[in-house]
Amino acid sequence: MRDDPSPNRPSNDDLHRQHHACMAIPEALQRCVASRGDGDPTWRRAADALIAELCLALVQHFADEVRSELFVDLPRARPWDAARLARLAAEHPVILAGFADLRRELADLADASAESRWIARLRAAIATLRRHEAEETEIMLIAGWDDLGGSG
Ligand SMILES: [Fe+2]
Ligand SMILES: [Fe+2]
Repeated sequence: MRDDPSPNRPSNDDLHRQHHACMAIPEALQRCVASRGDGDPTWRRAADALIAELCLALVQHFADEVRSELFVDLPRARPWDAARLARLAAEHPVILAGFADLRRELADLADASAESRWIARLRAAIATLRRHEAEETEIMLIAGWDDLGGSG
């Protein structure tokens, strides 16, 4: 991996901090939907604010990430990871659009059954985001390990 990333590029530490923020908001969202009361619509306002916050954080994170060592240097140094990284980069707009759609639909949930279906889709979107971030972390850890001579 690259030893001297350009100073105006996000560092791995920056990305790590963003990653934690992007994972903390979905935790709060899960708690928000899990603790909603029967017939109490106030959770929707909290969920709306959390999804808005998540979308903002993800826009920043994804934009920084594709300029970072992980997506710029690593595919050159480790061509066998390039296709996987290209697939992960292509997922960014899809993940964002999924949360934006959920936010738009939140105001129009007609009944408890529509609410349950929306919550199931929210949980699936969060699971996709977690899997996406875990794949990136795994690629970085393995590349770092190989740099240290771990691959033999
Ligand atoms: Fe990503
Ligand atoms: Fe990421």
